[in-house]
Amino acid sequence: MKIIMLGAPGAGKGTQAKQIAAKYGIPHISTGDIFRANLKEGTPLGLKAKEYMDKGLLVPDELTLDLIMDRFASDDCKNGYVLDGFPRTIPQAEALTKALEKNNDSIDFAIDVDVPDENIVKRMSGRRACVSCGATYHVVFNPPKTEGKCDNCGAELIQRADDKPETVLNRLSVYHKQTQPLIDYYKGFGKLKTVDGTKEMEEVFREIVSILEK
Ligand code: AP5
Repeated sequence: MKIIMLGAPGAGKGTQAKQIAAKYGIPHISTGDIFRANLKEGTPLGLKAKEYMDKGLLVPDELTLDLIMDRFASDDCKNGYVLDGFPRTIPQAEALTKALEKNNDSIDFAIDVDVPDENIVKRMSGRRACVSCGATYHVVFNPPKTEGKCDNCGAELIQRADDKPETVLNRLSVYHKQTQPLIDYYKGFGKLKTVDGTKEMEEVFREIVSILEK
């Protein structure tokens, strides 16, 4: 099963993608997580990506495409994957379509997690991420068992640098200009499904599962 998660920054793509990956035994591939892991290790890619991420801008397509195409070639992608944060521009979507077509393949679902802008800033200000394993929490909607500590590995929880309100507003504006057109792109292929991302996390997940298993 090949699934793309679409939606604004903070819509809950990562939250849902992790659960889908666990339920169906497929890898969760997040370009944002890959860039952040590279930054933590101080690689040239990570340092380059940081210049864009800190401003709320997209990392250039050339850098992103090289990275992701390598990842698809891995063994664990044989039975599919759930993509979170990729594709994010029409050229990225076209590159993915072409790469799949080479093997007579295509994605199965593009799931748009729909959340209005006014809910987003509030969500982002409460998000906390684990410095070690990348698990995400929300101080109100999904708090960890012990404040400031990851439930999975006990490491420290921090606020992401790009979750400051001014950067979030910029990310939203970039989303509307560069990423939202993908909704029509996948509608055109008959692959688009929309879920109401303002509902509780468990309810959003149930809705997604019912789409995937229809
Ligand atoms: P990335 O890491 O992909 O960030 P994003 O798309 O902006 O999405 P987020 O991770 O911020 O949000 P999400 O939708 O996953 O929400 P989450 O589940 O965490 O990208 C970061 C940057 O990297 C980009 O700005 C760009 O610079 C670069 N980049 C990445 N990919 C790229 C690409 N392909 N091309 C170019 N550049 C790229 O949830 C958010 C919060 O809400 C959490 O606290 C969560 O607990 C809570 N929450 C989730 N669901 C609910 C719910 N139903 N109700 C209440 N709270 C909820």
